[in-house]
Amino acid sequence: MFYDVVIPAAGQGKRMKAGKNKLFIELSGIPIIVYTLRVFEEDPNCREIILSINPAETEHFNQLIATYGIKKVKGLVAGGSERQQSVYNGLQHAGEEIVLVHDGARPFIDQGQISELALAASLHGGAVIAVQVKDTIKKAADNKILETVERSSLWAVQTPQAFRVSTLKRAHELAEAEAFLGTDDASLLERINEQVVIIEGNYDNIKITTQEDLYFAEAILHKQKRK
Ligand code: CTP
Ligand code: MG
Repeated sequence: MFYDVVIPAAGQGKRMKAGKNKLFIELSGIPIIVYTLRVFEEDPNCREIILSINPAETEHFNQLIATYGIKKVKGLVAGGSERQQSVYNGLQHAGEEIVLVHDGARPFIDQGQISELALAASLHGGAVIAVQVKDTIKKAADNKILETVERSSLWAVQTPQAFRVSTLKRAHELAEAEAFLGTDDASLLERINEQVVIIEGNYDNIKITTQEDLYFAEAILHKQKRK
């Protein structure tokens, strides 16, 4: 199943405290965003990569795309001040029936899972990659525990998330109209009762967010290179 992918890459990486967009940080000499782009560059089902960026970083992104020979990025799209806006702006350029949304900051997505995800989106409207929560999760107020949440029903949701383009566009437009800001795209479907299914992923697909994630990232890279 063919798809286009929107990659939001317009963040500032504030929690990384690197003084620059964290996607330019190098792992074994190659910028994080390049690993992410390569997964889709190499997937024959991916038709186009739509990259949402901060316009002030246009030159840097263009340089990386040229240096690493990424051919599926047809043009750069201006992102917004929130991730949701960056995705929405990218979505306007999606031409296939199915669109994936994938964080630039998740370089370790398993390419093998993408087809399953895209197929599930075409059947159900929306599909996300998620893993079962490993920790015991408690609800609390003012540091006083209220309850232990039943773990077997809890999932930690990642990207990619896949959707029928028409459904995701409608979900974004309604969210915008009602000033709802979600931390992922699936939440925009959930609030209008559109179905989203889970495809079980793996724990290597981390989002590189804070400094310590760089150690984990190097370890995951090391493991993947040995395969
Ligand atoms: N993103 C985006 N536009 C924004 C904010 C985030 O395109 N206005 C992108 C980021 O570049 C990243 C993905 O969305 O690839 C996930 O966001 P996050 O991990 O929060 O990255 P940042 O927003 O850059 O980091 P922070 O929240 O620490 O500033
Ligand atoms: Mg952010």
